[in-house]
Amino acid sequence: MKDLIRVAVTGGAGQICYNLLFRIASGEMFGSGQPIALHILELPQSLKALEGVVLELDDCAYPLLQEVRIGSDPNEIFDGVDYAILVGAKPRGKGMERADLLQENAKIFVEQAKAFTNPNVRVLVVGNPCNTNALVLLHNSEHLKPDQVRSMMRLDQNRAISQLSTKAKVSVGEVKNVAVYGNHSPTMVVDYCNAKIFGKSAMDVIKDRNWLQGEMMTTVQKRGGQIIEARGFSSAASAANAALDAICDWHFPTPNDNWYSAGVYSTGNPYNIADDLYFSFPLKDDVIVPNLEFDEFIAEKIKHTEKELLAERDAVKKFLS
Ligand code: NAD
Ligand code: LMR
Repeated sequence: MKDLIRVAVTGGAGQICYNLLFRIASGEMFGSGQPIALHILELPQSLKALEGVVLELDDCAYPLLQEVRIGSDPNEIFDGVDYAILVGAKPRGKGMERADLLQENAKIFVEQAKAFTNPNVRVLVVGNPCNTNALVLLHNSEHLKPDQVRSMMRLDQNRAISQLSTKAKVSVGEVKNVAVYGNHSPTMVVDYCNAKIFGKSAMDVIKDRNWLQGEMMTTVQKRGGQIIEARGFSSAASAANAALDAICDWHFPTPNDNWYSAGVYSTGNPYNIADDLYFSFPLKDDVIVPNLEFDEFIAEKIKHTEKELLAERDAVKKFLS
């Protein structure tokens, strides 16, 4: 039997976790030979609901799930974990932008930052606005180094892959090298210039620059809001799926013919983006893919999303030590 991988997940009684916890426990994250322990954090008032979720985890009789801890104290829950997926935060409702959550949700990450003491833990921030929450987390932690923290951009990447594959009428597996840049917000940028379909330039295959710059980009940028309008709640199953993918991207080697996107610390980046932001870039393993070239449209949009992240940073400066 391999050593246990301990995964902390916050917001355990919420919508995303009602999908995510079960998929981690079933082995979808680390593979069918990998035993798992789940450490689940919730607010005291939601612990009873979380107990119900744990009863259901028990009833799945997952062979890989060796241990489940629950509680409201981040110090206890984050102790000894290998990965932490920070989902617990307020979601936006109808008519709100993610930036409206800035002040409220930043406080959660100030508190949780202090509870990370293990040297090799990897922390994925999902709770919105996830890029700026990741920055707040890093600034308030004595122990976390920049490369131990990421914000989740994989949902945007998956949304872009889906749009491109539908348009080109190919299976999603044929769409590769799709990168998203910047913030997880309506300013996020899909790089259609370097995306590939069947190994060829996506632009050459799709032959519709107006669609790439217009409908495709806007659909991905506004998809979160579209789902809130339709469901009355923010995306949950697709967000859980993206969290799963994002941890796999981090844990396993990147296939030679592909890259993935994640929000990583910008200081020292090869694209001249301002320092001290969590900004989405394409990565292979843990390294930002350098030297990619874009058209002017993409270059200008990347500057716009950078500007938004600088403004978000400014809005939470009282939380940045
Ligand atoms: P939800 O309201 O259903 O669940 C959130 C849960 O977090 C609740 O059970 C709540 O009690 C708990 N919680 C709140 N503060 C906490 C704290 N300090 N510690 C532990 N638990 C805490 O919301 P949801 O739909 O699961 O979404 C959670 C977050 O994920 C939201 O901020 C949402 O906007 C974000 N989200 C991000 C992405 C992304 O792509 N990055 C995608 C979808 C949703
Ligand atoms: C999403 O992209 O679906 C989430 O970030 C939820 C939201 O607020 O849009």
